[in-house]
Amino acid sequence: MPIAPTSAPGVDRAAFRFHCIACGNVRDEASQNFRCPQCKDLLEITYPYWKEAGLSAENLKSTWRQRRLSQSAVDLSGVWRFRDLLPALANDQKVITLREGNTPLYELPQCARITGVPRLFAKHQGLNPTGSFKDTGMTVAATFARQAGFRWVACASTGNTSASMAAYAARGGMCSLVLVPEGKISWSKLSQALDYGAVTCQLRTDFDGCLSLLQELVLRAPVYQLNSINPFRLEGQKTVALELLEQLDWRPPDHIIVPGGNLGNSSAIGKALIEMHELDLISCLPKLSIIQAEGANALVRTVRETGGKRLINVQAETRATAVRIGNPASWKKAVHVLEATGGACEQVSEIEIAQAKAEIGAEGIGCEPASAVTLAGLKKLVKQEFVKPDETVVLILTGNLLKDPDFTIGFHRGDLFKDTPDESASGALNPLRCPPIVLDATLDAVIRTLEQAEKYS
Ligand code: F0G
Repeated sequence: MPIAPTSAPGVDRAAFRFHCIACGNVRDEASQNFRCPQCKDLLEITYPYWKEAGLSAENLKSTWRQRRLSQSAVDLSGVWRFRDLLPALANDQKVITLREGNTPLYELPQCARITGVPRLFAKHQGLNPTGSFKDTGMTVAATFARQAGFRWVACASTGNTSASMAAYAARGGMCSLVLVPEGKISWSKLSQALDYGAVTCQLRTDFDGCLSLLQELVLRAPVYQLNSINPFRLEGQKTVALELLEQLDWRPPDHIIVPGGNLGNSSAIGKALIEMHELDLISCLPKLSIIQAEGANALVRTVRETGGKRLINVQAETRATAVRIGNPASWKKAVHVLEATGGACEQVSEIEIAQAKAEIGAEGIGCEPASAVTLAGLKKLVKQEFVKPDETVVLILTGNLLKDPDFTIGFHRGDLFKDTPDESASGALNPLRCPPIVLDATLDAVIRTLEQAEKYS
């Protein structure tokens, strides 16, 4: 028999409001496009009663620890286990969950040597049920979609959001509509959406085109949008920070480094850090730094060229297809997080991304190219002395290696940069390549290969 889920003593489950990030307007309800009806900017979820409720950090920590012993579905989820800091549900038993979260924190000894930062960790969000961090937000947003009575959910995606949404919609008995840019997402991600039964439209545009079309669609049709504009997604994505800090015994690292695309994830993690600090769960704020691909560097340019005041759109182009985004929706939230935590915003080249991905892979930890921007960015931040060798650093790996096998195979075969301006520079990556070897099926041939490999290892 499942053990009944527990609540933190003295905690009135989190009543929440929608707060406009620009004009400060506060409302009980959000419209279909999750924008402020007054100024059209994005909404975030706030919890006005936390202060009155007198949440105790010690009670929260011990409740979350205790829930690890429970077999109830909400407690087995690495997201809902932290539900005291999430929007309250009408009924906890009705969550749509695939046991998301619960991801490992790994040490990276070889990357530590490469970067000169001995205390280097990776929190691998690619080990979520559908292979990316999106599941932590999706369990919350999909649950609220069903609670609100929606039959259809929809998203625009570079692949991971659609895979995750399709899975949670299927688990929750809802229909899903996916808008992805044709030819610009990996087959693995596309195949997930198909397998989970989504109506999948490959639009002849880029991600930004898909997202702007979706914004119009939700105002015309009864579909619930599950992009990270949806603030319930970001509330779920906060929990990676809670789980990370619990794994570090509530001792904050000096730096957390995340990839930046549409900028929902960095906003969510930053929000979690700020809330944890306000609730005395942590004694100081880690610096949250955001790394983008050079070819999709809207936030980097926005910060450098306008001081974070005005978004500079870019025409995005990068092989890290998950972050091929030129008009990031949550840029203002991300700027706020950079300012509040004192983090940096950097960009890395295609070659640097490929090299970092192979270096993480050589530790036995597979991630997708977009995740590897974190290690590539760390190297730059060390060089700039923004990160010091005696500091603790956590990289957030957002997606699984298996999400984009074409990239990995292209890298190891040596044709990833063929016929591109990076072709000659990519020769520097040869020592990291581990190409497949085609042989006659003879014992001799295999033994010779083994001996060769031993000689050069
Ligand atoms: N890493 C991976 C693996 C992603 O899939 C994404 C975004 C990001 C990083 C960037 O996160 O957008 O919150 O800044 N993927 C989205 C998608 C856009 O549709 O799957 P972000």
